[in-house]
Amino acid sequence: MHMNIEAGSNNLLRGDLSNDPFEVAALRYYYKPYIAFFHSFELRAYAEMDVRLSSPVLDLGCGEGAFAAELRQVLKKDISFTGLDMSEKALQTARATAGGLYESLHQGDARKLPFPDSRFGTVVANDAFVAVTPGLDLSLKETARVIRPGGHLYCTVATDRFGEHALWTRILRSVGAPGWADNYADRLRRRLTCFNYFTPDGWSSLLTDAGFEVEKMIGFFPLRHEDIWGFLTWTPLRALSVFRYIENEAARKLMARALMRAFQRRYKETPVHNDVNECSYILIRAVKS
Ligand SMILES: C[S@@+](CC[C@H](N)C(=O)[O-])C[C@H]1O[C@@H](n2cnc3c(N)ncnc32)[C@H](O)[C@@H]1O
Repeated sequence: MHMNIEAGSNNLLRGDLSNDPFEVAALRYYYKPYIAFFHSFELRAYAEMDVRLSSPVLDLGCGEGAFAAELRQVLKKDISFTGLDMSEKALQTARATAGGLYESLHQGDARKLPFPDSRFGTVVANDAFVAVTPGLDLSLKETARVIRPGGHLYCTVATDRFGEHALWTRILRSVGAPGWADNYADRLRRRLTCFNYFTPDGWSSLLTDAGFEVEKMIGFFPLRHEDIWGFLTWTPLRALSVFRYIENEAARKLMARALMRAFQRRYKETPVHNDVNECSYILIRAVKS
């Protein structure tokens, strides 16, 4: 599949509907730059992966549905999802804002899915398995159970680099304070609800044990993105969230464009395929064996 992964085509101001990952993420999260920055690389990994979405598609841990909407736009696929999440609050937002994105939305637990065996052709679990605690192994087995043989799982998950690459973790390690560094990395992960993080090989073993065969991994968020991301998560910048409620579309596009201008160089200079062992996050494609 050929995808346009070059940022900066300025479609935003021309009003075209772009499938450029950076534009898609910036337009949705212009008021939360740290999410826009992260999603642009996450979406680019999907754009580069040979994604085969066979219906029905389960969006496991769908949250408010924002990522599925972005993914559909980037992949230019006219698909709808079945959504499941444990949080009723997130589902309420998804119901209110996701339009025709979901055929149905379910409140449920990834460790005990309310679906029959082999119900889905594909499961997308974006940034979801990191948050399931305890019982990650159960949720992986449940996911395998509801996918039909030959169907695919696409999931993004944190690696052991996540938290380790953070600027303060590195500073604390370099000044000989490993205990404080561990503490800082742990608190950061917990704040971001990232409870499960393993090496790429570790994820591969867990998925194999659950009944999958890992076909491909694409790494994103290498070390050089952590500093910029750390800056974007800086509390004063979070005040930009007040702009979430801007109704004027031209103003929203202007903010998204300013964001893209600021980070375009960083986005373009990064190769799509990074060494998975050097990245904080990976996109995995696994097939149900
Ligand atoms: C980091 S968010 C990801 C949301 C969305 N997929 C995205 O990429 O933006 C993780 C989601 O997993 C959900 N979650 C955590 N544990 C769960 C469980 N046991 N069963 C179902 N959903 C769960 C949370 O409620 C949250 O919405």
